[in-house]
Amino acid sequence: MAGNSLAQVTPTVPGTDAAIEARIEELLTAMTPAEKAGQLTQYFYFGSDVDPSGGDLAGASENTAGGVEGALARGEAGSLLFMTDPAEINRLQRLTLDGNRHGIPAIFGFDVIHGLRTILPVPIAMAASWDPETIEHGQTVAAREARAVGIHWAFAPMVDIARDPRWGRIIEGAGEDPYLGAAVAVAQVRGFQGAGLGTPDRIIAGPKHFAGYGAAIGGRDYDEVSLSDADLWNVYLPPFKAAVDAGAGNIMTAYMDLNGIPASGNAWLFTHVLREVWGFEGFVVSDANAVRNLMTHGFAGDLTDAGVRAVNVGIDLEMAMADPAYGYLPAALEAGQVSESAIDACVRRVLRAKLQLGLFDNPYVDEDRAAEVLADPAHREIARVAAERSAVLLRNQADLLPLSAESLSAASGSIAVIGPLADSRRDTIGPWVFDFDLDETVTVLEGIRQRVGTTVTVGYAPGIRPAQRHFASMFDMFPGNAPADPGPDFDEDAELQRAVELARAADVAVVVLGEWQNMIGEAASRSSLELPGRQLELLQAVSATGTPVVLLVMNGRPLDLRWAAENVPAILDIWYPGTHGGHAVANLLFGDVAPGGKLPFSWPRTVGQVPMIYSHTISHEPANQAKRYWDEESTPLFPFGFGLSYAPVEYSNLALDCDSVGPEGSVTVSVEVANVGVWPADEVVQLYLHQRHGTASRPVRELKGFRRISLAAGESQTVEFSVGPDERRYWNAAVRDWVLDASVFDAYVGSDSAAALTASFEVTGS
Ligand code: BGC
Repeated sequence: MAGNSLAQVTPTVPGTDAAIEARIEELLTAMTPAEKAGQLTQYFYFGSDVDPSGGDLAGASENTAGGVEGALARGEAGSLLFMTDPAEINRLQRLTLDGNRHGIPAIFGFDVIHGLRTILPVPIAMAASWDPETIEHGQTVAAREARAVGIHWAFAPMVDIARDPRWGRIIEGAGEDPYLGAAVAVAQVRGFQGAGLGTPDRIIAGPKHFAGYGAAIGGRDYDEVSLSDADLWNVYLPPFKAAVDAGAGNIMTAYMDLNGIPASGNAWLFTHVLREVWGFEGFVVSDANAVRNLMTHGFAGDLTDAGVRAVNVGIDLEMAMADPAYGYLPAALEAGQVSESAIDACVRRVLRAKLQLGLFDNPYVDEDRAAEVLADPAHREIARVAAERSAVLLRNQADLLPLSAESLSAASGSIAVIGPLADSRRDTIGPWVFDFDLDETVTVLEGIRQRVGTTVTVGYAPGIRPAQRHFASMFDMFPGNAPADPGPDFDEDAELQRAVELARAADVAVVVLGEWQNMIGEAASRSSLELPGRQLELLQAVSATGTPVVLLVMNGRPLDLRWAAENVPAILDIWYPGTHGGHAVANLLFGDVAPGGKLPFSWPRTVGQVPMIYSHTISHEPANQAKRYWDEESTPLFPFGFGLSYAPVEYSNLALDCDSVGPEGSVTVSVEVANVGVWPADEVVQLYLHQRHGTASRPVRELKGFRRISLAAGESQTVEFSVGPDERRYWNAAVRDWVLDASVFDAYVGSDSAAALTASFEVTGS
């Protein structure tokens, strides 16, 4: 069984056929500069009766019915985002086509981050499945639902590497590691796009935010990023490169300054890396208002200058709330500030995407079919399975899990479910969702109740009131997004006591704690990783009853679980598990499925340790690596790649097919993995590599292969990985190029990044 998942990728690069190219040139010849600028403009639109700006943005009044619809009707906009109603999308498309003398349809984009109607686990959870197949299936469902309502393109996947969990958008990506990040990025692009642009039931994938956004200083969203070229090439760019190689049709820019230059006007990123080095042929969209922001950054002098600079680096489409910079392009052209060829290059790429999608021939969506697709029960099943495969078992003392519904039932037992998050439908599905249906969302409490039936008593107590953000989120303007406060009649001390009594009288307490969903995501950075509000106090009070406690963590970032990791016997990270999350959690708790997810980031003990990565280099006094701080361990609470199953898994017989290869040679690493317990187990077999010496210092180890497998009780399997030049190549700051060093390499194979089983081989020559 081959273990390097990246090797399994078949590229789905969109073709550029001659007829499409001829049509583009014909259109370009016939279009006026204003019509071209319109094709390069995308407006936010929330519907004819909504003005979302809150008056914050200069010129925001344009983003109203009259403004946006007027622009569409005049051919001054070629794309909209945020519409999800198929009838409205058709109406706006009709308006567009009526107003466009060339018959150029609009393209509709949306943040299809983790599902449209069927909400999948949040992206960091999907990454925790370490299962490209599950991830691809999930985004196939998301694409099918989105396309059914008339959406053509997802502003996803977010492939930003995140190494600082204070940054809220860690939840949208695949965590800290470029190899895992690349595999997850590829799976998502394949899920969204299928065989390429124009595949029925699929949509364009738009990996974002190019590039480096996850390294925001201090973990503060939108703030500047300073990254060395080696960090960029070796860590932050590989998931983008993988997504481009997999055929992603679009790329989105990033908000912040990268090494002093705004990413959205950054010629090195867009002209050099993306187009010249990688040969990306798709179109680029700015992040929201990011072209206008070139002015805010103190980079462009005015809106005209902002538009000119963005077009010159190939930002093809401007995503704008109002008063787009690209509206000034015709005047800039006339004044000689921008060339027609620069504008045409952008228009060409936008038109190509519309033609490749088949929008000119089929601009409308089948409104009758949409409801049927959105209601497809198969989609809910895929979301549930994804939630089961995403959960990470962090601790399981004395095999407290799985619980036995049969024994509880036979003894007329009871379960105490505790914590406000345990029965919050809105929080169960997580952030970055807009078209959900809470009526069909299943909370943890509901999932447990349905699983055990009436023979086991399931009591519920929230215990405390939901915590609130100190500063409100911009997403809180959406109804129901901020947690509802139970009001003045909620006596918190009495409720906490009630929760304690419920736990005391129960056979087991299932405590659900974490962050409310508006506390994580965009504009949700934190200065602490503590459980918000009185949650730790609740956990400690419930634990003090002596009733065994299962802690379920609902989160998108690591939280400070130092107390729990020593005092709570079972901890299962369920993330924000999505529409049928409650069913998935119940299936895991009662052993219907075995947990097998693994952490996609190193879990720090405390915020003072961040950023914390497993793939650090080795420096002075490595023996004291765990004692760099005098007041706390320097090791993580749980290492990258960590996660248990219900049965123990043992590794043996690590073998290499040879102990020396030339510079281009490959070594096959094989290992035997055995389930030595009585439950089925899911395991992610992981391969790490360390280069002992060379022309640069190399990380202590780096992930270079993984494979998720299922093992029946007593079963063992042999897993193989190939370690070739692709696994050993890195970008070297000394020579400013990619190198393959001759060296001795240590391969480590095991359950997580602390794997001890090791074997070495030599690479000769250079
Ligand atoms: C985010 C993007 C998102 C866009 C449109 C921006 O604020 O940074 O990730 O796609 O809004 O909603």
